[in-house]
Amino acid sequence: MMQDVSLKLNQTLWEKAMAKMKSEFKKNKIMSTDFILILILLGLYKKVDIKNEDYIYLATTHPDQRKDTNYFYKTIAIHKDLLAKIATTNYYSHAINILMAAYIISPIAEYTDQIKPLYTIVGYKNITMQQETASAVGNMQLHHHDMTLVDACCATGSLFFGLNTYDWKQVILNDLNPLRTNFLNVLKLEPLKLIDLYLENDLSFIKNPDTKNPKLKEYKYDLDNYREKRKKYHKVDCNIMIAYEMFITQCIDKQHIENVNDIFVRMLRFLPAHLKLIMNETYITQEDCKKYLVDSPTITLPNKRLLKLDSNRLLLLDPPYVGTEHQCSAYDNNDKYKAFHSYVADCLGKAKYPFLYYCRSSPSKNINNLTPEEAKHIMKQRLSDYFFDRNFYFNKIYLDNNSLTELMISNKAYNPTSQFQWTDISQNIL
Ligand SMILES: C[S@@+](CC[C@H](N)C(=O)[O-])C[C@H]1O[C@@H](n2cnc3c(N)ncnc32)[C@H](O)[C@@H]1O
Repeated sequence: MMQDVSLKLNQTLWEKAMAKMKSEFKKNKIMSTDFILILILLGLYKKVDIKNEDYIYLATTHPDQRKDTNYFYKTIAIHKDLLAKIATTNYYSHAINILMAAYIISPIAEYTDQIKPLYTIVGYKNITMQQETASAVGNMQLHHHDMTLVDACCATGSLFFGLNTYDWKQVILNDLNPLRTNFLNVLKLEPLKLIDLYLENDLSFIKNPDTKNPKLKEYKYDLDNYREKRKKYHKVDCNIMIAYEMFITQCIDKQHIENVNDIFVRMLRFLPAHLKLIMNETYITQEDCKKYLVDSPTITLPNKRLLKLDSNRLLLLDPPYVGTEHQCSAYDNNDKYKAFHSYVADCLGKAKYPFLYYCRSSPSKNINNLTPEEAKHIMKQRLSDYFFDRNFYFNKIYLDNNSLTELMISNKAYNPTSQFQWTDISQNIL
């Protein structure tokens, strides 16, 4: 629900913040309601201290700019829930002036650096893996502005969003699942419409299984149909309702359901993610990732332009894991993954471009009544089919609870302390 609020606003801060926002959001015109909405969302994302007057001093350069005569009145419609989060009734104007000042003095990288996961799926990259990736890419010392970043099985986009801010020549986010590509495209093209949909919908239904389950069933029906219909398409959609339903479903269709506040915190990452998508020339594609592994692939972009990639690219490849493909499979037939893994390992063995390849190294628990030792042995042997003694560099990462490990495999030696090569089969790589 929206509420009309009469605000007393500082002219200098308004002009500076508006100019910065137009430039960062690449817009010629921004409506006042959108301007205030963006300020509030970015302020909440950055946890701006609404009481801190220092922002205003930092964002202004002369006492005249802070004088009462430099203020004007404007009535703006603002979502009630957001107002409640920033200030009490008498302080709305003060809060918005502080938010404008905080925005003016914040470099864009404060929003676009290391954005935490927007939502989760099975096999998504958590904050630990995001940080490991960000530091690996940092240590590689690449010439970003000449390079294309390709996240070839990007799903939630967590790997790309978790990086620091770079001026890549291009960014390609690819996934075969239309629900993933649609969401990223909505974030890129229509983030405010997605946020409005979120703010207009009451999420209290998730608190009670009697109201949650029927709604979830409805959403999953829509999403299954959508994925089925578009699974062979290469054209990436921009369906805001599906993006919304997918986002909410991913937050509540799991053992530990996220609460309304957790979901709000995730939603606050949408605008930083949007900024990160538009600050680079970003393309979202729905192709088999194998396309991106060959030497010089030619990709048909959404605008039908052909893009020829050379070795000046960094490939991030987080496909369904060896041994547990069914959980994130994008192929109808899981058997295809044996050939897939061999093909991928061969391409990576020959790659002239740097890459980071991810694979879960902890075996799945309780498969076929195997003992943990047997499961571990099988996992290691499976991995050896593709990665043993191939001149790759391995980095073993302990995930949060330390019982799960993941391997980051690369053809680049970027960290002599943490990376090792697998040349002796008896090495303890898991
Ligand atoms: C392990 S998940 C990637 C997780 C991702 N890094 C994240 O943090 O959200 C694997 C993804 O690969 C996609 N996928 C599976 N096979 C693919 C293929 N052959 N080409 C492109 N994407 C594929 C799946 O749709 C799934 O989204």
